[in-house]
Amino acid sequence: MLPPASERFTAVESRLREVMEAYNYAEVRTPIAERTELFARSIGETTDIVEKEMYTFDDRDGSSLTLRPEGTASVVRAAVEAGLAQRDQALKLYYLGPMFRRERPQKGRYRQFHQVGAELIGRDDPMADAEMIALLMDCLEAAGAKDVELVLNSLGDRACRPPYRAALADYGRAHQDGLCPNCRLRIDRNPLRLLDCKEEDCRRTMAGAPSISEYLCDECRAHFAEVQRVLAASGVRFTTSARLVRGLDYYVRTAFEVLGGGLGAQNAVGGGGRYDGLVAALGGPPVAGVGFAVGLERVIMAAGETASDHHPEVFVIPLGEGASLAAFELARSLRRTGVRCELEAGGRSIKSAMRRADKLGARYAVILGDEELQAGRATLRDMRRQADHRLALRLGGGGSELAEAIRELGAVGG
Ligand code: HAM
Repeated sequence: MLPPASERFTAVESRLREVMEAYNYAEVRTPIAERTELFARSIGETTDIVEKEMYTFDDRDGSSLTLRPEGTASVVRAAVEAGLAQRDQALKLYYLGPMFRRERPQKGRYRQFHQVGAELIGRDDPMADAEMIALLMDCLEAAGAKDVELVLNSLGDRACRPPYRAALADYGRAHQDGLCPNCRLRIDRNPLRLLDCKEEDCRRTMAGAPSISEYLCDECRAHFAEVQRVLAASGVRFTTSARLVRGLDYYVRTAFEVLGGGLGAQNAVGGGGRYDGLVAALGGPPVAGVGFAVGLERVIMAAGETASDHHPEVFVIPLGEGASLAAFELARSLRRTGVRCELEAGGRSIKSAMRRADKLGARYAVILGDEELQAGRATLRDMRRQADHRLALRLGGGGSELAEAIRELGAVGG
Protein backbone atom coordinates (compact mmCIF):
# COMPACT_ATOMS: atom_id res chain seq x y z
CA MET A 1 0.00 0.00 0.00
CA LEU A 2 1.55 3.21 -1.17
CA PRO A 3 0.88 6.88 -0.45
CA PRO A 4 -1.63 8.46 -0.58
CA ALA A 5 -3.64 5.28 0.23
CA SER A 6 -1.33 4.37 3.10
CA GLU A 7 -1.68 7.85 4.56
CA ARG A 8 -5.45 7.70 4.51
CA PHE A 9 -5.21 4.37 6.23
CA THR A 10 -3.03 5.76 8.97
CA ALA A 11 -5.27 8.81 9.37
CA VAL A 12 -8.39 6.64 9.74
CA GLU A 13 -6.57 4.29 12.12
CA SER A 14 -5.59 7.13 14.38
CA ARG A 15 -9.11 8.56 14.39
CA LEU A 16 -10.45 5.14 15.38
CA ARG A 17 -7.85 4.84 18.11
CA GLU A 18 -9.10 8.13 19.55
CA VAL A 19 -12.70 6.88 19.60
CA MET A 20 -11.62 3.60 21.24
CA GLU A 21 -9.71 5.48 23.87
CA ALA A 22 -12.62 7.83 24.53
CA TYR A 23 -14.65 4.71 25.40
CA ASN A 24 -11.76 3.68 27.66
CA TYR A 25 -10.55 0.71 25.60
CA ALA A 26 -6.85 -0.15 25.68
CA GLU A 27 -4.92 -1.70 22.83
CA VAL A 28 -4.04 -5.39 22.68
CA ARG A 29 -1.59 -6.76 20.11
CA THR A 30 -1.88 -10.41 19.30
CA PRO A 31 0.27 -12.62 17.06
CA ILE A 32 -0.38 -12.89 13.32
CA ALA A 33 -0.20 -16.69 13.52
CA GLU A 34 -1.91 -18.90 16.10
CA ARG A 35 -2.45 -22.60 16.54
CA THR A 36 -5.03 -23.73 14.00
CA GLU A 37 -7.06 -25.40 16.70
CA LEU A 38 -7.85 -22.03 18.30
CA PHE A 39 -9.78 -20.86 15.24
CA ALA A 40 -11.43 -24.21 14.62
CA ARG A 41 -12.72 -24.27 18.18
CA SER A 42 -13.90 -20.68 18.37
CA ILE A 43 -15.06 -19.66 14.88
CA GLY A 44 -16.57 -23.14 14.32
CA GLU A 45 -15.51 -26.24 12.37
CA THR A 46 -18.36 -25.91 9.87
CA THR A 47 -17.97 -22.24 8.98
CA ASP A 48 -16.69 -21.15 5.57
CA ILE A 49 -13.76 -19.45 7.27
CA VAL A 50 -12.52 -22.62 8.94
CA GLU A 51 -13.51 -25.02 6.18
CA LYS A 52 -12.19 -23.10 3.21
CA GLU A 53 -10.59 -19.79 3.91
CA MET A 54 -7.75 -20.21 6.37
CA TYR A 55 -4.07 -19.97 5.50
CA THR A 56 -2.86 -22.98 7.41
CA PHE A 57 0.61 -24.51 7.42
CA ASP A 58 2.65 -27.00 9.40
CA ASP A 59 5.37 -25.67 11.59
CA ARG A 60 8.67 -27.58 11.68
CA ASP A 61 7.65 -29.43 14.82
CA GLY A 62 4.54 -30.71 13.09
CA SER A 63 2.09 -28.39 14.85
CA SER A 64 -0.44 -26.66 12.64
CA LEU A 65 -0.44 -22.86 12.52
CA THR A 66 -2.88 -20.47 10.86
CA LEU A 67 -2.67 -16.81 9.86
CA ARG A 68 -5.40 -15.13 11.90
CA PRO A 69 -8.64 -14.74 9.94
CA GLU A 70 -10.09 -12.47 12.66
CA GLY A 71 -9.18 -11.02 16.04
CA THR A 72 -11.69 -12.21 18.63
CA ALA A 73 -10.30 -15.72 19.13
CA SER A 74 -6.79 -14.41 19.74
CA VAL A 75 -7.93 -11.68 22.10
CA VAL A 76 -9.93 -14.14 24.19
CA ARG A 77 -7.04 -16.62 24.20
CA ALA A 78 -4.62 -13.91 25.31
CA ALA A 79 -6.97 -12.69 28.05
CA VAL A 80 -7.46 -16.24 29.34
CA GLU A 81 -3.74 -16.99 29.29
CA ALA A 82 -2.93 -13.79 31.17
CA GLY A 83 -5.64 -14.52 33.75
CA LEU A 84 -7.40 -11.25 32.89
CA ALA A 85 -10.81 -12.73 32.21
CA GLN A 86 -11.20 -13.60 35.89
CA ARG A 87 -11.03 -10.08 37.23
CA ASP A 88 -14.03 -8.34 38.79
CA GLN A 89 -13.83 -5.54 36.30
CA ALA A 90 -14.79 -5.97 32.68
CA LEU A 91 -11.89 -6.14 30.27
CA LYS A 92 -12.00 -3.59 27.44
CA LEU A 93 -9.56 -4.20 24.61
CA TYR A 94 -9.22 -2.94 21.05
CA TYR A 95 -6.96 -4.06 18.25
CA LEU A 96 -6.04 -3.25 14.71
CA GLY A 97 -4.06 -5.06 12.11
CA PRO A 98 -4.05 -7.40 9.14
CA MET A 99 -6.29 -10.47 8.92
CA PHE A 100 -6.15 -13.23 6.32
CA ARG A 101 -8.93 -15.12 4.56
CA ARG A 102 -8.59 -17.06 1.36
CA GLU A 103 -11.74 -15.69 -0.26
CA ARG A 104 -12.20 -14.94 -3.93
CA PRO A 105 -10.74 -11.45 -4.26
CA GLN A 106 -12.99 -8.74 -5.64
CA LYS A 107 -13.84 -5.13 -4.93
CA GLY A 108 -13.87 -4.75 -1.14
CA ARG A 109 -12.78 -8.34 -0.54
CA TYR A 110 -9.15 -9.16 -0.13
CA ARG A 111 -7.10 -12.07 1.13
CA GLN A 112 -5.17 -9.76 3.39
CA PHE A 113 -7.35 -7.02 4.84
CA HIS A 114 -7.34 -4.90 7.97
CA GLN A 115 -9.68 -4.84 10.89
CA VAL A 116 -10.12 -2.49 13.80
CA GLY A 117 -12.06 -4.25 16.52
CA ALA A 118 -13.05 -4.07 20.17
CA GLU A 119 -13.88 -6.72 22.75
CA LEU A 120 -15.68 -6.22 26.04
CA ILE A 121 -15.19 -9.30 28.21
CA GLY A 122 -17.05 -9.86 31.47
CA ARG A 123 -20.37 -8.11 30.88
CA ASP A 124 -23.61 -9.89 30.07
CA ASP A 125 -26.05 -6.99 30.44
CA PRO A 126 -27.81 -5.46 27.41
CA MET A 127 -26.23 -2.09 28.14
CA ALA A 128 -22.89 -3.65 27.19
CA ASP A 129 -24.26 -4.67 23.78
CA ALA A 130 -25.61 -1.15 23.32
CA GLU A 131 -22.28 0.39 24.28
CA MET A 132 -20.49 -1.84 21.79
CA ILE A 133 -22.87 -0.89 19.01
CA ALA A 134 -22.63 2.80 19.88
CA LEU A 135 -18.85 2.49 19.78
CA LEU A 136 -19.04 0.85 16.36
CA MET A 137 -21.27 3.60 14.99
CA ASP A 138 -19.05 6.31 16.47
CA CYS A 139 -16.01 4.67 14.87
CA LEU A 140 -17.74 4.72 11.49
CA GLU A 141 -18.73 8.34 11.91
CA ALA A 142 -15.21 9.35 12.92
CA ALA A 143 -13.87 7.57 9.84
CA GLY A 144 -16.29 9.53 7.66
CA ALA A 145 -18.17 6.43 6.41
CA LYS A 146 -21.35 7.62 4.74
CA ASP A 147 -24.79 6.05 4.24
CA VAL A 148 -24.30 3.28 6.75
CA GLU A 149 -27.14 1.13 7.93
CA LEU A 150 -27.16 -0.84 11.18
CA VAL A 151 -29.01 -4.17 11.26
CA LEU A 152 -29.63 -6.12 14.46
CA ASN A 153 -30.82 -9.60 15.27
CA SER A 154 -30.89 -11.97 18.20
CA LEU A 155 -29.58 -15.45 17.53
CA GLY A 156 -30.90 -16.91 20.76
CA ASP A 157 -28.83 -18.84 23.27
CA ARG A 158 -28.01 -22.38 24.22
CA ALA A 159 -31.58 -22.90 25.40
CA CYS A 160 -33.58 -21.59 22.46
CA ARG A 161 -31.28 -21.89 19.48
CA PRO A 162 -31.13 -25.70 19.20
CA PRO A 163 -34.89 -26.02 18.56
CA TYR A 164 -34.63 -23.25 15.98
CA ARG A 165 -31.67 -24.95 14.31
CA ALA A 166 -33.67 -28.16 14.14
CA ALA A 167 -36.68 -26.37 12.66
CA LEU A 168 -34.47 -24.75 10.04
CA ALA A 169 -32.85 -28.06 9.15
CA ASP A 170 -36.32 -29.66 8.81
CA TYR A 171 -37.38 -26.84 6.53
CA GLY A 172 -34.19 -27.21 4.49
CA ARG A 173 -34.70 -30.95 4.08
CA ALA A 174 -38.28 -30.43 2.97
CA HIS A 175 -37.17 -27.83 0.40
CA GLN A 176 -33.89 -29.38 -0.77
CA ASP A 177 -34.75 -29.01 -4.45
CA GLY A 178 -34.77 -25.25 -4.14
CA LEU A 179 -31.29 -25.11 -2.59
CA CYS A 180 -27.83 -24.91 -4.15
CA PRO A 181 -25.47 -27.89 -3.64
CA ASN A 182 -23.53 -25.96 -1.03
CA CYS A 183 -26.67 -25.24 0.99
CA ARG A 184 -27.77 -28.86 0.74
CA LEU A 185 -24.56 -29.76 2.57
CA ARG A 186 -25.27 -27.07 5.14
CA ILE A 187 -28.68 -28.49 6.10
CA ASP A 188 -27.19 -30.86 8.62
CA ARG A 189 -23.86 -29.23 9.27
CA ASN A 190 -24.79 -25.59 9.85
CA PRO A 191 -28.44 -24.85 8.99
CA LEU A 192 -28.30 -21.21 10.16
CA ARG A 193 -26.04 -20.51 7.19
CA LEU A 194 -28.92 -21.37 4.85
CA LEU A 195 -30.25 -17.90 5.63
CA ASP A 196 -27.07 -16.28 4.41
CA CYS A 197 -26.68 -17.78 0.92
CA LYS A 198 -26.45 -15.22 -1.88
CA GLU A 199 -27.89 -17.57 -4.57
CA GLU A 200 -31.20 -16.33 -5.91
CA ASP A 201 -32.87 -19.77 -5.68
CA CYS A 202 -31.79 -20.26 -2.09
CA ARG A 203 -33.04 -16.82 -1.13
CA ARG A 204 -36.41 -17.55 -2.67
CA THR A 205 -36.60 -20.96 -0.99
CA MET A 206 -35.58 -19.62 2.40
CA ALA A 207 -38.07 -16.73 2.28
CA GLY A 208 -40.66 -19.07 3.78
CA ALA A 209 -38.35 -20.55 6.44
CA PRO A 210 -39.16 -20.29 10.13
CA SER A 211 -37.90 -17.13 11.84
CA ILE A 212 -35.68 -17.05 14.93
CA SER A 213 -37.94 -14.39 16.40
CA GLU A 214 -40.62 -17.03 16.96
CA TYR A 215 -38.18 -19.24 18.86
CA LEU A 216 -36.43 -16.84 21.26
CA CYS A 217 -36.80 -17.74 24.94
CA ASP A 218 -38.10 -15.11 27.36
CA GLU A 219 -34.61 -14.15 28.57
CA CYS A 220 -33.27 -13.67 25.04
CA ARG A 221 -36.35 -11.75 24.02
CA ALA A 222 -36.06 -9.41 27.00
CA HIS A 223 -32.34 -8.93 26.44
CA PHE A 224 -32.86 -8.04 22.78
CA ALA A 225 -35.71 -5.66 23.58
CA GLU A 226 -33.53 -3.85 26.12
CA VAL A 227 -30.64 -3.47 23.66
CA GLN A 228 -33.05 -1.89 21.20
CA ARG A 229 -34.59 0.34 23.85
CA VAL A 230 -31.21 1.73 24.91
CA LEU A 231 -30.08 2.31 21.34
CA ALA A 232 -33.31 4.00 20.34
CA ALA A 233 -33.20 6.21 23.44
CA SER A 234 -29.69 7.36 22.58
CA GLY A 235 -30.54 8.12 18.97
CA VAL A 236 -28.78 5.21 17.27
CA ARG A 237 -30.77 4.31 14.16
CA PHE A 238 -31.19 0.63 13.29
CA THR A 239 -33.44 -1.96 11.73
CA THR A 240 -33.88 -5.56 12.80
CA SER A 241 -33.71 -8.59 10.56
CA ALA A 242 -34.44 -12.14 11.66
CA ARG A 243 -32.34 -13.28 8.66
CA LEU A 244 -29.10 -11.76 9.90
CA VAL A 245 -26.79 -14.62 10.75
CA ARG A 246 -23.07 -14.21 10.99
CA GLY A 247 -20.24 -16.17 9.42
CA LEU A 248 -18.77 -17.12 12.79
CA ASP A 249 -20.37 -19.66 15.13
CA TYR A 250 -19.48 -18.16 18.50
CA TYR A 251 -22.35 -15.68 18.62
CA VAL A 252 -25.30 -15.90 20.99
CA ARG A 253 -28.09 -13.40 21.46
CA THR A 254 -27.26 -10.04 19.88
CA ALA A 255 -25.64 -10.06 16.44
CA PHE A 256 -25.24 -6.99 14.28
CA GLU A 257 -23.87 -5.81 11.01
CA VAL A 258 -23.39 -2.42 9.42
CA LEU A 259 -23.87 -2.14 5.69
CA GLY A 260 -22.28 0.65 3.69
CA GLY A 261 -23.91 2.37 0.74
CA GLY A 262 -22.36 2.06 -2.71
CA LEU A 263 -20.04 -0.81 -1.85
CA GLY A 264 -21.55 -3.44 -4.14
CA ALA A 265 -21.75 -7.08 -3.08
CA GLN A 266 -19.20 -6.77 -0.26
CA ASN A 267 -21.16 -4.19 1.65
CA ALA A 268 -20.61 -5.14 5.30
CA VAL A 269 -18.33 -2.46 6.71
CA GLY A 270 -18.46 -3.99 10.18
CA GLY A 271 -20.10 -6.60 12.30
CA GLY A 272 -20.09 -8.26 15.65
CA GLY A 273 -22.16 -9.58 18.48
CA ARG A 274 -22.27 -11.28 21.82
CA TYR A 275 -20.21 -14.41 22.44
CA ASP A 276 -21.07 -15.65 25.94
CA GLY A 277 -19.52 -19.10 26.25
CA LEU A 278 -16.44 -18.45 24.13
CA VAL A 279 -14.20 -17.52 27.05
CA ALA A 280 -15.13 -20.76 28.83
CA ALA A 281 -14.72 -22.76 25.60
CA LEU A 282 -11.14 -21.48 25.39
CA GLY A 283 -10.33 -22.56 28.94
CA GLY A 284 -11.35 -19.43 30.85
CA PRO A 285 -14.03 -18.75 33.44
CA PRO A 286 -17.70 -18.66 32.43
CA VAL A 287 -17.80 -14.95 31.63
CA ALA A 288 -19.69 -13.22 28.84
CA GLY A 289 -18.29 -11.16 25.99
CA VAL A 290 -19.38 -8.86 23.20
CA GLY A 291 -17.42 -7.20 20.42
CA PHE A 292 -17.19 -6.03 16.84
CA ALA A 293 -14.73 -5.42 14.05
CA VAL A 294 -14.78 -3.08 11.08
CA GLY A 295 -12.97 -3.73 7.81
CA LEU A 296 -10.73 -0.74 7.24
CA GLU A 297 -10.60 -1.07 3.45
CA ARG A 298 -14.38 -1.03 3.28
CA VAL A 299 -14.74 1.80 5.78
CA ILE A 300 -12.37 3.89 3.69
CA MET A 301 -14.33 3.03 0.54
CA ALA A 302 -17.54 4.05 2.28
CA ALA A 303 -15.94 7.35 3.24
CA GLY A 304 -15.32 8.14 -0.44
CA GLU A 305 -12.53 10.20 -1.91
CA THR A 306 -10.96 12.90 0.17
CA ALA A 307 -8.11 15.12 -0.85
CA SER A 308 -4.70 14.06 0.38
CA ASP A 309 -3.48 16.27 3.21
CA HIS A 310 0.10 15.30 2.63
CA HIS A 311 1.56 18.70 1.79
CA PRO A 312 4.80 20.17 3.04
CA GLU A 313 4.30 23.30 5.07
CA VAL A 314 7.60 24.71 3.92
CA PHE A 315 9.52 24.09 0.73
CA VAL A 316 13.14 25.21 0.97
CA ILE A 317 14.84 26.27 -2.24
CA PRO A 318 18.59 26.86 -2.31
CA LEU A 319 19.85 28.85 -5.26
CA GLY A 320 23.55 28.45 -5.83
CA GLU A 321 26.26 26.35 -4.20
CA GLY A 322 26.78 28.38 -1.08
CA ALA A 323 23.11 28.34 -0.14
CA SER A 324 22.71 24.58 -0.08
CA LEU A 325 24.35 24.14 3.34
CA ALA A 326 22.15 26.83 4.90
CA ALA A 327 19.12 25.25 3.21
CA PHE A 328 20.01 21.81 4.56
CA GLU A 329 20.35 23.22 8.06
CA LEU A 330 17.14 25.21 7.79
CA ALA A 331 15.17 22.17 6.68
CA ARG A 332 16.60 20.04 9.48
CA SER A 333 15.91 22.70 12.07
CA LEU A 334 12.27 23.07 10.96
CA ARG A 335 11.79 19.30 10.81
CA ARG A 336 13.14 18.90 14.32
CA THR A 337 10.33 21.10 15.58
CA GLY A 338 7.76 19.05 13.69
CA VAL A 339 7.26 21.29 10.67
CA ARG A 340 6.69 19.20 7.56
CA CYS A 341 9.39 20.43 5.28
CA GLU A 342 10.69 19.55 1.82
CA LEU A 343 14.14 20.47 0.62
CA GLU A 344 14.70 21.09 -3.07
CA ALA A 345 17.83 19.54 -4.49
CA GLY A 346 20.19 22.32 -5.58
CA GLY A 347 21.03 23.29 -9.09
CA ARG A 348 17.55 24.00 -10.42
CA SER A 349 16.26 27.24 -11.75
CA ILE A 350 13.99 29.22 -9.46
CA LYS A 351 11.20 28.79 -11.96
CA SER A 352 11.26 25.01 -11.96
CA ALA A 353 11.70 24.95 -8.16
CA MET A 354 8.63 27.14 -7.68
CA ARG A 355 6.68 24.93 -10.00
CA ARG A 356 7.57 21.97 -7.84
CA ALA A 357 6.62 23.81 -4.64
CA ASP A 358 3.28 24.53 -6.23
CA LYS A 359 2.77 20.95 -7.33
CA LEU A 360 3.56 19.61 -3.88
CA GLY A 361 1.02 22.01 -2.44
CA ALA A 362 3.55 23.70 -0.13
CA ARG A 363 2.12 26.50 1.98
CA TYR A 364 5.36 28.48 2.03
CA ALA A 365 8.56 28.49 0.04
CA VAL A 366 11.83 29.79 1.44
CA ILE A 367 14.21 31.00 -1.21
CA LEU A 368 17.84 31.09 -0.24
CA GLY A 369 20.18 32.71 -2.76
CA ASP A 370 23.95 33.03 -2.34
CA GLU A 371 23.91 36.80 -2.58
CA GLU A 372 20.87 37.20 -0.38
CA LEU A 373 22.42 35.03 2.31
CA GLN A 374 25.62 37.02 2.24
CA ALA A 375 23.55 40.14 2.71
CA GLY A 376 21.88 38.43 5.71
CA ARG A 377 18.49 37.94 4.08
CA ALA A 378 16.22 35.29 2.70
CA THR A 379 12.74 35.33 1.16
CA LEU A 380 9.66 33.57 2.50
CA ARG A 381 6.95 33.26 -0.09
CA ASP A 382 3.36 32.70 1.00
CA MET A 383 2.26 30.40 -1.82
CA ARG A 384 -1.43 30.89 -1.20
CA ARG A 385 -1.43 34.67 -1.02
CA GLN A 386 1.39 35.06 -3.51
CA ALA A 387 3.12 37.45 -1.11
CA ASP A 388 6.80 37.69 -0.17
CA HIS A 389 8.27 38.37 3.26
CA ARG A 390 11.84 39.42 3.78
CA LEU A 391 13.59 37.42 6.46
CA ALA A 392 16.49 39.09 8.16
CA LEU A 393 19.26 36.95 9.63
CA ARG A 394 20.75 38.07 12.85
CA LEU A 395 23.83 35.91 13.11
CA GLY A 396 25.70 34.02 10.50
CA GLY A 397 22.62 32.96 8.59
CA GLY A 398 22.49 29.36 9.83
CA GLY A 399 19.37 27.19 9.66
CA SER A 400 18.19 27.64 13.21
CA GLU A 401 18.16 31.46 13.00
CA LEU A 402 16.17 31.23 9.83
CA ALA A 403 13.77 28.79 11.37
CA GLU A 404 13.36 31.22 14.23
CA ALA A 405 12.71 34.11 11.89
CA ILE A 406 10.08 32.06 10.07
CA ARG A 407 8.38 31.15 13.31
CA GLU A 408 8.41 34.75 14.47
CA LEU A 409 6.46 35.63 11.40
CA GLY A 410 3.83 33.23 12.68
CA ALA A 411 4.00 31.38 9.40
CA VAL A 412 4.47 27.83 10.63
CA GLY A 413 3.58 25.74 13.62
CA GLY A 414 6.07 24.27 16.02
P1 HAM B 1 -16.56 -10.40 10.40
O1 HAM B 1 -17.94 -9.95 10.08
O2 HAM B 1 -16.12 -11.71 9.87
O3 HAM B 1 -16.43 -10.37 11.98
O4 HAM B 1 -15.54 -9.31 9.91
C1 HAM B 1 -15.68 -7.95 10.29
C2 HAM B 1 -15.47 -7.04 9.10
O5 HAM B 1 -14.21 -7.32 8.47
C3 HAM B 1 -16.48 -7.22 7.98
O6 HAM B 1 -17.67 -6.52 8.26
C4 HAM B 1 -15.73 -6.63 6.80
O7 HAM B 1 -15.84 -5.21 6.81
C5 HAM B 1 -14.29 -6.99 7.10
N1 HAM B 1 -13.88 -8.14 6.27
C6 HAM B 1 -14.09 -9.44 6.48
N2 HAM B 1 -13.55 -10.20 5.51
C7 HAM B 1 -12.98 -9.34 4.63
C8 HAM B 1 -12.23 -9.49 3.40
N3 HAM B 1 -11.95 -10.68 2.88
N4 HAM B 1 -11.80 -8.36 2.78
C9 HAM B 1 -12.06 -7.13 3.30
N5 HAM B 1 -12.74 -6.95 4.46
C10 HAM B 1 -13.18 -8.01 5.12
C11 HAM B 1 -15.32 -10.73 12.68
O8 HAM B 1 -14.24 -10.90 12.18
C12 HAM B 1 -15.53 -10.79 14.16
N6 HAM B 1 -14.25 -11.16 14.80
C13 HAM B 1 -16.05 -9.48 14.71
C14 HAM B 1 -16.24 -9.57 16.19
C15 HAM B 1 -15.45 -9.06 17.13
N7 HAM B 1 -17.24 -10.19 16.79
C16 HAM B 1 -17.08 -10.09 18.10
N8 HAM B 1 -15.99 -9.41 18.33
